[in-house]
Amino acid sequence: MRIILLGPPGAGKGTQAQFISQEFDIPQISTGDMLRAAIKEGSELGRQAESIMNAGGLVSDDLIINLVKERIAKPDCANGCIFDGFPRTIPQAQALADADVAINHVVEISVPDDEIVNRLSGRRQHPGSGRVYHIAHNPPKVEGIDDVTGEPLIQRDDDKEDTIRERLSTYHQQTAALVGFYQEKAQEGADAPAYTKFDGTQGIDEVKAQVLSTLKGE
Ligand code: AP5
Ligand code: ZN
Repeated sequence: MRIILLGPPGAGKGTQAQFISQEFDIPQISTGDMLRAAIKEGSELGRQAESIMNAGGLVSDDLIINLVKERIAKPDCANGCIFDGFPRTIPQAQALADADVAINHVVEISVPDDEIVNRLSGRRQHPGSGRVYHIAHNPPKVEGIDDVTGEPLIQRDDDKEDTIRERLSTYHQQTAALVGFYQEKAQEGADAPAYTKFDGTQGIDEVKAQVLSTLKGE
């Protein structure tokens, strides 16, 4: 099963990707997490991506498409994967279609802009695994500490208010068009990906229950 998670920054893509990954035993492919890992390693990709990410813009389509093509060729993707934060532009979606990567389901998580700043300023993340928490909505058992590894949680560099507003503007300018792109594709027939929109303002567990039941075809 191959799934695309679509939605603005802070919609809950990473949060729901982890539930889907556990339920269907398929890996989460987060281009944002991969880029953050590249920055931490100090690789050439990380050097190119860092200032763009901190300004709330998008890394070039060519770099991202190569990164994803390499990732999906790995053996753990044989039974499918969850794309989290990819595709993010029409050319990225087109590259996926041109590479004949069939998608079963596009899951849109919708949250209005005014809720997003609150969500992202309260987010904490475990850098090693990408696990996400929220200081109020989904706190770790011990403040500032990852539940699974006991390692410290961090705040992302791009979760500052000014950068969050830039990321939202980038989403509306470059990514929101994918909603129409995939809604149209869903009309194309039996092999086309299904498309479902979820109200991401509900609690984490409500969104989880609705998404999992839809993906299981219940
Ligand atoms: P990326 O890492 O993909 O960031 P994003 O799309 O901005 O999304 P977020 O990770 O901020 O939000 P999310 O939807 O995953 O929400 P989460 O579950 O964490 O990309 C970062 C940057 O990398 C981009 O700006 C760009 O520069 C670059 N990049 C990445 N991919 C790219 C691509 N394909 N092309 C070009 N450039 C690319 O939840 C957020 C918070 O809310 C958490 O604290 C969580 O606990 C909480 N929360 C979640 N759900 C709920 C709920 N239902 N109720 C209450 N709180 C909730
Ligand atoms: Zn994320």
